[in-house]
Amino acid sequence: NDQELLRGKKVLVTAGGTVERIDPVRYLTNDSSGKMGFAIAEAAHLMGADVTLVMGKTSAMPPEGIRTVKVESTQQMLDAVVARLREMDVVVKAAAVADYRPVEQAEQKIKKKEEAMILQLVKNPDILQTIGSMKTSQFIIGFAAETENIDEYALDKLKRKNCDLLVANDVTQEGAGFGTDTNVVRIYDGSGLVEALPVMTKREVARQLLILTVQRMKKGERAN
Ligand code: PMT
Repeated sequence: NDQELLRGKKVLVTAGGTVERIDPVRYLTNDSSGKMGFAIAEAAHLMGADVTLVMGKTSAMPPEGIRTVKVESTQQMLDAVVARLREMDVVVKAAAVADYRPVEQAEQKIKKKEEAMILQLVKNPDILQTIGSMKTSQFIIGFAAETENIDEYALDKLKRKNCDLLVANDVTQEGAGFGTDTNVVRIYDGSGLVEALPVMTKREVARQLLILTVQRMKKGERAN
Protein backbone atom coordinates (compact mmCIF):
# COMPACT_ATOMS: atom_id res chain seq x y z
CA ASN A 1 0.00 0.00 0.00
CA ASP A 2 1.72 3.12 -1.31
CA GLN A 3 -0.83 5.68 -0.21
CA GLU A 4 0.87 6.71 3.01
CA LEU A 5 4.52 6.60 1.89
CA LEU A 6 4.88 10.36 1.36
CA ARG A 7 1.96 11.59 3.49
CA GLY A 8 2.76 14.99 4.99
CA LYS A 9 5.72 15.54 2.66
CA LYS A 10 6.04 18.39 0.19
CA VAL A 11 7.49 17.39 -3.16
CA LEU A 12 8.50 19.70 -6.00
CA VAL A 13 9.04 18.18 -9.44
CA THR A 14 10.31 19.96 -12.56
CA ALA A 15 9.31 18.61 -15.98
CA GLY A 16 9.67 19.49 -19.63
CA GLY A 17 12.17 21.64 -21.43
CA THR A 18 13.06 25.26 -20.81
CA VAL A 19 12.62 27.69 -23.69
CA GLU A 20 15.08 30.45 -24.54
CA ARG A 21 13.66 33.14 -26.80
CA ILE A 22 15.62 34.50 -29.74
CA ASP A 23 12.86 36.90 -30.82
CA PRO A 24 9.05 36.96 -30.44
CA VAL A 25 8.57 34.01 -32.82
CA ARG A 26 11.76 31.93 -32.44
CA TYR A 27 13.35 30.04 -29.59
CA LEU A 28 15.80 27.36 -28.51
CA THR A 29 14.53 24.31 -26.63
CA ASN A 30 14.91 20.52 -26.52
CA ASP A 31 12.89 17.33 -27.00
CA SER A 32 11.62 16.86 -23.45
CA SER A 33 7.93 15.88 -23.50
CA GLY A 34 7.47 16.21 -19.74
CA LYS A 35 6.49 12.54 -19.38
CA MET A 36 9.24 11.59 -16.92
CA GLY A 37 8.53 14.52 -14.60
CA PHE A 38 4.76 14.03 -14.90
CA ALA A 39 5.13 10.38 -13.92
CA ILE A 40 7.10 11.38 -10.82
CA ALA A 41 4.60 14.07 -9.85
CA GLU A 42 1.74 11.59 -10.25
CA ALA A 43 3.51 8.83 -8.32
CA ALA A 44 4.31 11.25 -5.46
CA HIS A 45 0.67 12.38 -5.43
CA LEU A 46 -0.51 8.75 -5.24
CA MET A 47 1.86 8.26 -2.27
CA GLY A 48 0.07 11.06 -0.41
CA ALA A 49 2.56 13.90 -0.99
CA ASP A 50 1.63 17.55 -1.48
CA VAL A 51 3.06 17.97 -4.98
CA THR A 52 4.03 21.10 -6.93
CA LEU A 53 4.87 20.59 -10.58
CA VAL A 54 7.02 23.26 -12.20
CA MET A 55 6.76 22.74 -15.93
CA GLY A 56 8.46 24.23 -18.95
CA LYS A 57 7.56 23.35 -22.53
CA THR A 58 5.89 19.95 -22.73
CA SER A 59 4.02 17.92 -25.33
CA ALA A 60 2.33 15.35 -23.07
CA MET A 61 -0.71 15.92 -20.86
CA PRO A 62 0.14 16.84 -17.27
CA PRO A 63 -1.48 14.67 -14.56
CA GLU A 64 -4.73 15.97 -13.16
CA GLY A 65 -5.27 17.25 -9.65
CA ILE A 66 -1.72 18.50 -9.15
CA ARG A 67 -0.69 22.11 -8.52
CA THR A 68 1.24 23.32 -11.56
CA VAL A 69 3.42 26.35 -12.15
CA LYS A 70 4.17 27.08 -15.80
CA VAL A 71 7.46 28.65 -16.75
CA GLU A 72 9.31 29.31 -19.97
CA SER A 73 12.98 30.23 -19.53
CA THR A 74 15.65 28.65 -17.36
CA GLN A 75 15.76 31.83 -15.25
CA GLN A 76 12.00 31.56 -14.64
CA MET A 77 12.35 27.89 -13.68
CA LEU A 78 15.20 28.78 -11.33
CA ASP A 79 13.12 31.51 -9.68
CA ALA A 80 10.09 29.22 -9.33
CA VAL A 81 12.16 26.45 -7.72
CA VAL A 82 14.24 28.68 -5.44
CA ALA A 83 11.14 30.53 -4.19
CA ARG A 84 9.66 27.23 -2.98
CA LEU A 85 12.81 25.40 -1.91
CA ARG A 86 12.65 26.13 1.82
CA GLU A 87 9.26 24.54 2.34
CA MET A 88 10.05 21.39 0.32
CA ASP A 89 11.03 17.96 1.64
CA VAL A 90 11.91 16.51 -1.76
CA VAL A 91 12.92 18.17 -5.05
CA VAL A 92 13.14 16.16 -8.27
CA LYS A 93 14.78 17.84 -11.28
CA ALA A 94 13.54 15.82 -14.24
CA ALA A 95 13.35 18.88 -16.51
CA ALA A 96 15.73 19.26 -19.43
CA VAL A 97 17.20 22.68 -18.83
CA ALA A 98 18.82 24.75 -21.58
CA ASP A 99 22.47 25.24 -20.72
CA TYR A 100 22.70 28.40 -22.86
CA ARG A 101 20.46 31.27 -23.92
CA PRO A 102 20.83 33.95 -26.58
CA VAL A 103 22.82 36.96 -25.34
CA GLU A 104 19.91 39.18 -26.37
CA GLN A 105 16.22 38.57 -26.91
CA ALA A 106 15.18 40.77 -29.83
CA GLU A 107 11.95 42.65 -29.18
CA GLN A 108 10.98 42.55 -32.85
CA LYS A 109 11.17 39.64 -35.27
CA ILE A 110 14.72 39.45 -36.62
CA LYS A 111 14.83 40.21 -40.35
CA LYS A 112 16.54 37.87 -42.78
CA LYS A 113 19.76 39.27 -44.20
CA GLU A 114 22.08 38.27 -47.03
CA GLU A 115 25.02 37.28 -44.84
CA ALA A 116 25.21 34.35 -42.42
CA MET A 117 23.83 34.94 -38.97
CA ILE A 118 25.73 34.22 -35.79
CA LEU A 119 23.67 33.60 -32.68
CA GLN A 120 25.71 34.35 -29.60
CA LEU A 121 24.86 32.39 -26.47
CA VAL A 122 25.63 32.88 -22.80
CA LYS A 123 25.59 30.26 -20.10
CA ASN A 124 22.45 29.81 -18.04
CA PRO A 125 22.52 29.34 -14.28
CA ASP A 126 22.46 25.70 -13.22
CA ILE A 127 19.24 25.22 -11.23
CA LEU A 128 20.23 21.92 -9.68
CA GLN A 129 23.65 23.18 -8.64
CA THR A 130 22.08 26.33 -7.17
CA ILE A 131 19.60 24.43 -5.01
CA GLY A 132 22.27 21.82 -4.18
CA SER A 133 24.38 24.59 -2.69
CA MET A 134 21.39 26.11 -0.81
CA LYS A 135 19.90 22.92 0.58
CA THR A 136 19.27 22.47 4.27
CA SER A 137 17.28 19.29 4.84
CA GLN A 138 15.77 18.78 1.38
CA PHE A 139 16.27 15.45 -0.37
CA ILE A 140 17.37 16.39 -3.87
CA ILE A 141 17.17 14.13 -6.90
CA GLY A 142 18.89 15.12 -10.14
CA PHE A 143 18.62 13.58 -13.58
CA ALA A 144 21.29 13.22 -16.22
CA ALA A 145 20.73 12.68 -19.91
CA GLU A 146 23.88 11.06 -21.26
CA THR A 147 25.03 9.55 -24.53
CA GLU A 148 28.37 8.07 -23.36
CA ASN A 149 30.48 7.40 -20.21
CA ILE A 150 27.24 7.26 -18.25
CA ASP A 151 28.64 6.14 -14.86
CA GLU A 152 31.47 8.64 -14.87
CA TYR A 153 29.41 11.63 -16.00
CA ALA A 154 26.51 10.77 -13.71
CA LEU A 155 28.67 10.51 -10.60
CA ASP A 156 30.46 13.72 -11.50
CA LYS A 157 27.08 15.53 -11.78
CA LEU A 158 25.84 14.04 -8.50
CA LYS A 159 28.88 15.34 -6.64
CA ARG A 160 29.15 18.70 -8.36
CA LYS A 161 25.45 19.44 -7.91
CA ASN A 162 25.24 18.03 -4.36
CA CYS A 163 22.27 15.69 -5.01
CA ASP A 164 21.17 12.83 -2.76
CA LEU A 165 20.31 10.62 -5.72
CA LEU A 166 20.99 10.97 -9.42
CA VAL A 167 19.02 9.21 -12.14
CA ALA A 168 20.94 8.75 -15.38
CA ASN A 169 19.36 7.76 -18.66
CA ASP A 170 21.42 6.81 -21.69
CA VAL A 171 19.28 8.62 -24.23
CA THR A 172 20.79 6.67 -27.13
CA GLN A 173 19.27 3.45 -25.78
CA GLU A 174 16.05 2.05 -27.27
CA GLY A 175 13.10 2.85 -24.99
CA ALA A 176 15.02 5.46 -22.97
CA GLY A 177 15.06 9.22 -22.63
CA PHE A 178 13.11 11.90 -24.46
CA GLY A 179 9.51 11.46 -25.58
CA THR A 180 9.06 7.75 -24.86
CA ASP A 181 6.62 6.22 -22.37
CA THR A 182 9.45 4.04 -21.05
CA ASN A 183 12.90 4.68 -19.68
CA VAL A 184 16.07 2.76 -18.81
CA VAL A 185 17.78 4.31 -15.81
CA ARG A 186 20.76 3.87 -13.52
CA ILE A 187 20.38 5.41 -10.07
CA TYR A 188 23.43 6.60 -8.08
CA ASP A 189 24.19 7.98 -4.66
CA GLY A 190 27.43 9.47 -3.33
CA SER A 191 29.05 6.07 -3.06
CA GLY A 192 28.16 4.85 -6.55
CA LEU A 193 25.58 2.82 -8.42
CA VAL A 194 22.52 1.94 -6.35
CA GLU A 195 20.29 0.36 -8.99
CA ALA A 196 20.38 -0.38 -12.69
CA LEU A 197 16.76 -0.79 -13.77
CA PRO A 198 15.69 -2.58 -16.94
CA VAL A 199 13.40 -0.92 -19.48
CA MET A 200 10.12 -0.07 -17.73
CA THR A 201 7.38 2.54 -18.00
CA LYS A 202 8.18 6.00 -16.72
CA ARG A 203 5.44 5.40 -14.14
CA GLU A 204 7.26 2.35 -12.82
CA VAL A 205 10.59 4.21 -12.82
CA ALA A 206 8.91 7.00 -10.86
CA ARG A 207 7.52 4.60 -8.27
CA GLN A 208 10.85 2.79 -7.80
CA LEU A 209 12.68 6.08 -7.46
CA LEU A 210 10.26 7.40 -4.84
CA ILE A 211 10.39 4.15 -2.86
CA LEU A 212 14.19 4.47 -2.74
CA THR A 213 13.76 8.09 -1.67
CA VAL A 214 11.36 7.21 1.16
CA GLN A 215 13.73 4.50 2.44
CA ARG A 216 16.65 6.91 2.40
CA MET A 217 14.76 9.74 4.07
CA LYS A 218 13.74 7.32 6.86
CA LYS A 219 17.36 6.28 7.37
CA GLY A 220 18.37 9.95 7.47
CA GLU A 221 15.73 10.70 10.11
CA ARG A 222 16.94 7.82 12.27
CA ALA A 223 20.53 9.02 11.99
CA ASN A 224 19.63 12.51 13.27
O1 PMT B 1 10.44 14.71 -20.62
P1 PMT B 1 10.65 13.35 -21.26
O2 PMT B 1 10.36 13.37 -22.74
O3 PMT B 1 9.90 12.27 -20.52
O4 PMT B 1 12.22 12.99 -21.17
C1 PMT B 1 12.82 12.72 -19.92
C2 PMT B 1 14.23 13.31 -19.82
C3 PMT B 1 15.15 12.61 -20.81
C4 PMT B 1 14.20 14.83 -20.11
C5 PMT B 1 14.67 13.07 -18.33
O5 PMT B 1 14.66 11.69 -18.07
C6 PMT B 1 16.07 13.66 -18.07
O6 PMT B 1 17.09 13.02 -18.27
N1 PMT B 1 16.10 14.92 -17.58
C7 PMT B 1 17.35 15.68 -17.39
C8 PMT B 1 17.83 16.18 -18.71
C9 PMT B 1 19.02 17.08 -18.56
O7 PMT B 1 18.91 18.28 -18.69
O8 PMT B 1 20.15 16.49 -18.22
P2 PMT B 1 21.54 17.21 -17.99
O9 PMT B 1 22.50 16.11 -17.88
O10 PMT B 1 21.76 18.28 -19.03
O11 PMT B 1 21.38 17.95 -16.60
C10 PMT B 1 21.63 17.29 -15.37
C11 PMT B 1 20.72 17.80 -14.28
O12 PMT B 1 20.98 19.19 -14.03
C12 PMT B 1 19.23 17.68 -14.56
O13 PMT B 1 18.59 17.33 -13.36
C13 PMT B 1 18.85 19.08 -15.00
O14 PMT B 1 17.50 19.36 -14.67
C14 PMT B 1 19.82 19.94 -14.19
N2 PMT B 1 20.20 21.20 -14.86
C15 PMT B 1 20.93 21.22 -16.00
C16 PMT B 1 21.32 22.41 -16.56
C17 PMT B 1 20.94 23.62 -15.93
N3 PMT B 1 21.28 24.81 -16.43
N4 PMT B 1 20.23 23.58 -14.79
C18 PMT B 1 19.85 22.40 -14.25
O15 PMT B 1 19.19 22.35 -13.21
